[in-house]
Amino acid sequence: MVIKNLMVTGGCGFIGSNFIRYLLKGEDFSGRIINADKLTYAGNPDNLKGIKENYPERYVFERADICDFARMEEIFSDYKIDTICHFAAESHVDRSIKRPDTFINTNIIGTFNLLELARAAPDNFSLFHHISTDEVYGSLGKTGSFVETTPYKPNSPYSASKASSDHLVRAYNRTYGLPTTISNCSNNYGPYQFPEKLIPLVILNAVNREKLPVYGDGRNIRDWLYVEDHCDAIWTIMKSGRRGETYNIGGDMEMENIAIVEMICDILDEMPHLKGSSSRRDLITFVEDRPGHDRRYAIDFSKLRKEFNWVPRESFNSGIQKTVSWYLENKEWVKRVINKEYQSWIGEQYG
Ligand code: NAD
Ligand code: DAU
Repeated sequence: MVIKNLMVTGGCGFIGSNFIRYLLKGEDFSGRIINADKLTYAGNPDNLKGIKENYPERYVFERADICDFARMEEIFSDYKIDTICHFAAESHVDRSIKRPDTFINTNIIGTFNLLELARAAPDNFSLFHHISTDEVYGSLGKTGSFVETTPYKPNSPYSASKASSDHLVRAYNRTYGLPTTISNCSNNYGPYQFPEKLIPLVILNAVNREKLPVYGDGRNIRDWLYVEDHCDAIWTIMKSGRRGETYNIGGDMEMENIAIVEMICDILDEMPHLKGSSSRRDLITFVEDRPGHDRRYAIDFSKLRKEFNWVPRESFNSGIQKTVSWYLENKEWVKRVINKEYQSWIGEQYG
């Protein structure tokens, strides 16, 4: 597969921006990236600082809403898009509980628009890769893990909207023969993650010795994957994945939320310049649980491992150290994303 003009949607978000950097720095992609992003509260052009300057021929940014069909059609034809990697979405579960409407629009209608454009594209259209989540499978008990054939049982407006978009992608493959692949991944962490999510929220609050809100009893379990490993898995699937197939991606790293929060506290407490008289663990505050809070996720990615030998490279110990350091070293970035919109969200959510 030779990709000439790859549209990345949501490329100014957390995973999308890491993916663009990963591809442009890598050696086996020589095409052009057209990043189409609406720049919602979660999209930040600073996430790709220097990219346009370093790759003037290979990177283009278009501010665009995937729900605006005419605008997306224009971009499709102007840049002769032959491949899509679709990240753009509303991604935060708590926001979907408070205001589900944008999730329905962007995650379902936006995906539908892109599928329609891909369906109408010339014969050289090579792939629609859809980025999805393990949350579509619902919640697990104490044992077991999600496989690609696990029935969908989404529990939040976010996961229901993602499930819906996954079904549309599958249907476009089966009905129209559109070349598609879908990846369902577990929780990502790493540089450039918006601070509404657990790990960056806890890092930044703990640095400032502010309260660390833990939902319910803190014993909910997530599987964690360093974002660069996710990018590597996506690119592996795009290059070699069988069309029409779904691939699970995970980190083999199940952790209770409380253990993660304590680990971050300990890492910061051990830094000589951040040492204080009390442990940051004292800041942990158990707060009201998230409605419909999934208890446990665990992902079986043996299909990806067996077909392509893919395994995550980063250990959680080193990945979390790197992530903490990144947030400490990028104070300007942090200052810019903690803007009025974010402050108002935090006020609404945590009081
Ligand atoms: P994010 O919220 O950090 O970024 C989303 C990006 O999409 C932003 O740049 C935003 O401006 C853009 N966007 C939103 N609505 C848009 C619209 N209507 N038109 C164009 N652009 C729009 O999200 P993320 O954490 O990077 O997640 C990216 C994708 O990966 C999502 O599809 C999400 O469901 C999926 N995913 C995320 C995780 C995770 O742990 N973060 C895990 C598995 C799957
Ligand atoms: O599993 C993949 C999903 O991971 C992605 O599809 C989503 O886009 C992404 O946001 C993430 O969803 P989660 O809901 O798992 O991530 P979040 O960081 O919001 O929460 C992680 C866990 O921590 C979850 O059990 C809720 C809990 N939590 C979260 C926040 C923000 C807290 O206890 N306190 C908090 O303040």
